[in-house]
Amino acid sequence: MKKFALLSLLLILFVSCRQSVKKEIVDESQRGLITNKAMVVSARIEASKIGSDILEKGGNVFDAMMATELALNVAYQYAGSIGGGGFMVYRLNTGEVGALDYREKAPLGASRDMYLDEEGNVIPELSTVGAMAVGVPGGIAGLFEAHERFGTLPLEDIIKPVIDLAYKGVVVTKKQEERIAQYQPYFSKPNKDSIVFEKPWKQNDTIKFPALAETLTRIMENGRDEFYKGETAKRFVEFIQKNGGIISEEDLEIYEAKWRDPITFEYDELKITSMSPPSSGGICLAQILKMIEPYDLSDYGHNSLETVKLLTEAERRAYADRSFYLGDPDFVDNPIDELMDPDYLKNRMASFSFNRPTKSSEIEHGEVMVLESMETTHYSIVDQYGNAISVTVTLNGAYGSKLYNSELGFFLNNEMDDFSSKPGVPNMFGLIGAEANSILPEKRMLSSMTPTIIEKDGEFYMSLGTPGGSTIITSVLQTILNVHEFNMTAQQAVDAPRFHHQWMPDAVMFEPNKFDPDFISSLKTFGYEIIERDNIITSKVNAILALPNGTLEGGADGRGDDTAVGF
Ligand code: DON
Repeated sequence: MKKFALLSLLLILFVSCRQSVKKEIVDESQRGLITNKAMVVSARIEASKIGSDILEKGGNVFDAMMATELALNVAYQYAGSIGGGGFMVYRLNTGEVGALDYREKAPLGASRDMYLDEEGNVIPELSTVGAMAVGVPGGIAGLFEAHERFGTLPLEDIIKPVIDLAYKGVVVTKKQEERIAQYQPYFSKPNKDSIVFEKPWKQNDTIKFPALAETLTRIMENGRDEFYKGETAKRFVEFIQKNGGIISEEDLEIYEAKWRDPITFEYDELKITSMSPPSSGGICLAQILKMIEPYDLSDYGHNSLETVKLLTEAERRAYADRSFYLGDPDFVDNPIDELMDPDYLKNRMASFSFNRPTKSSEIEHGEVMVLESMETTHYSIVDQYGNAISVTVTLNGAYGSKLYNSELGFFLNNEMDDFSSKPGVPNMFGLIGAEANSILPEKRMLSSMTPTIIEKDGEFYMSLGTPGGSTIITSVLQTILNVHEFNMTAQQAVDAPRFHHQWMPDAVMFEPNKFDPDFISSLKTFGYEIIERDNIITSKVNAILALPNGTLEGGADGRGDDTAVGF
């Protein structure tokens, strides 16, 4: 009897304890910046401010997009998009959603085995460092395409403040000082002459970018074609070819940004819109969320054993599909409907159990991965008219190919490494590709970038995204769950500790020193190989969340210098 009473008490305690997790309410003291009408959240305060000023002048999200992104090209050259590319997802105040693809392309002179030696082995660094690694940039084409279709302010109003910033210069932050110092050893190899980033920059120094200011002035005066057909195009191609690359004037001339149908799906009462191929982001995010939807995550709790197991197993299955099926939709048939089919996904999770990990080898074959720290950047903007955008842009690696065009004032991407150089051999994110992502002239390389916009009850709810290579998708996933399932504020949601799994390697990765060692031990005992080290998860999520009272909350990731500005 006594034993029974004790058991009942324990049961009651257990149930009420779990319920208390479920009833957890939002901690209002933990909110990020709150504004009434509009907001920009980006990797640098200068860029968020310039974007927000454009909104205050009456511009909309697309005007602010051009201003913010160009300003990031000045203040955050680590991941600037003029020499790279990106994706934008939008939601207009009418509820219309859409997506713009301004991803880089393989040059006309590219070929399937261009990174292999005579024995068929991948030549180290050829797809990551120097001119051969560079894909045809899409940044300027994307910004002008978005502005032409939806923008309202004249180019001068938008670009002039960015040119002023480039002349005036950018004050080095502590994190920037560390980053520049970390990558300085890699700059001398691809660059014939010394570059501005090789100076011993210290916190509070000011770096000025007059060459970039001149390039931007020509672009402001002559428009998009300045970059693809004008003086800038000529100088760009001369530079690439002088450095042993293969991008031609024709490559620039034929580059076009493309409007795409985004991936749209539902999770609980949320309507989620995210990027479609050539990014794998939207499909992978949809697959994972659909696979976990039947489970009660809020009941399991944030970063609990059950949550980590469930997410890891769903991620394993989604990333295995990503590696095999996905590529540029202009070249391969992406089986989008099949991959998002509810029966398919249910079947995919049939082998899932909380009691036994699935081995990645039971799902498909793969190799081990090497990770270096890399960069991309994400910004989200909501305007005073109720329009929202979510934009992720990249050079791929930190400072891209490390090749800097001092005359034009920007770094060039190493996006060619996002192709699968050789089936089965991992790229720098450890991602393994197949035929669907092999190199062909003019093809766009598969991406993981996941700019995402969420609607709830027919209204804008959240705009979010992040850099982080292969960890982008799982970081966006966890941020959505943090808000929706675990009642966090936007700021808490972007700052919360993250983990990641990507099928291959068969290991679960955790941000170091953020998870309890006993918790990690339990996962090891369960059978997971665990990797915990610096730079294993390189995401910095930026988000804007609409609150029930009509205000906006900014979530600017504390891992970087990211800042929200608005009014
Ligand atoms: O498109 C992609 O998926 C990669 N090029 C993104 C690279 C990235 O996020 C690096 N940042 N940490």
